Amino acid sequence: MLYFNNDSFYVELPQLSKKSTNSKDVVAGLGEIGLPIYQLISKNCQTIGYDTNPKLINKKLNQKYENLPTRFLHICIPFSKKFMPRVKSLYKKFEPQSIVIHSTISPGTTIKIQKSLKIPVIYSATRGIHKRMLNDLKRYTKFFAITPNTPKSKSIANQYSTLLKSCKVKTKKMSNPIALEVAKIVVDTSYYGWLINYAQISNMIAKKYGVDYDEMWSFSDEIQKYLGNRPKMFPGFIGGHCVIPNLALIGDNTLKIIKEINSDYAKILKKRKTRKK
Ligand SMILES: NC(=O)c1ccc[n+]([C@@H]2O[C@H](COP(=O)([O-])OP(=O)(O)OC[C@H]3O[C@@H](n4cnc5c(N)ncnc54)[C@H](O)[C@@H]3O)[C@@H](O)[C@H]2O)c1
Repeated sequence: MLYFNNDSFYVELPQLSKKSTNSKDVVAGLGEIGLPIYQLISKNCQTIGYDTNPKLINKKLNQKYENLPTRFLHICIPFSKKFMPRVKSLYKKFEPQSIVIHSTISPGTTIKIQKSLKIPVIYSATRGIHKRMLNDLKRYTKFFAITPNTPKSKSIANQYSTLLKSCKVKTKKMSNPIALEVAKIVVDTSYYGWLINYAQISNMIAKKYGVDYDEMWSFSDEIQKYLGNRPKMFPGFIGGHCVIPNLALIGDNTLKIIKEINSDYAKILKKRKTRKK
């Protein structure tokens, strides 16, 4: 089946599973994480994709399954101030049995959404790099969490784990969505940024003293090998749309330093380049 996509224009999407059931899943937001999530789950259950960009929608398929009730509505849209109203409007459109948020969100969002809806809302953070997202989705355990004391949460948690098991993805349930919302930012993307910051700082010091970066870091190779607590990172500029934008979601003053060091590093590198010219 051919399908439109911004980058590659055509992407092969899997056919609906022969294991037809009386419900469908909906993936909302067919971008860098939504499309691979669609590709992953549509192999095992009836799934349709939905996006505000009509070019990304397979209209025929969506019409065919229009009248089937929705089991999971998978939210894969970027976080913004309008995230909550957007999720609610998708909820009204598809009337799902449960919502799964795969996007990276500001801590506290899942509980806020849960309070305003009667159906269970799962937060299930996504790990991976967009270039190899489908493989990364299969490689990493998919953590998830539901607000404690939510009605039907046990059965929904079981259904979600079963769905992912059928896709050969392991799951792990955390006690509370906030723990996972914070984890996604603090011990994943921000930690990565923090480590790159140290590479940037150490590179600037190496340059100041006319020292070779790799030779300097070779001093910590064995410690890293034996203790694993001296990781050497590449001293590049932090670009992309995860590490730096995710800092704004957590709004922590200390973590803001990651963005500041990155910006200063870019300025210093630019100055050095202009001096060399
Ligand atoms: N890209 C990654 O590698 C990655 C990794 C982990 C987590 N995430 C998180 O996943 C989320 C989505 O990121 P992405 O990179 O896939 O974004 P993206 O920009 O590639 O795709 C988002 C898609 O959602 C659509 N969309 C926006 N609002 C919509 C709405 N109301 N209804 C339906 N569709 C809508 C857009 O048209 C777009 O196609 C973000 O929270 C991001 O932080 C991304």
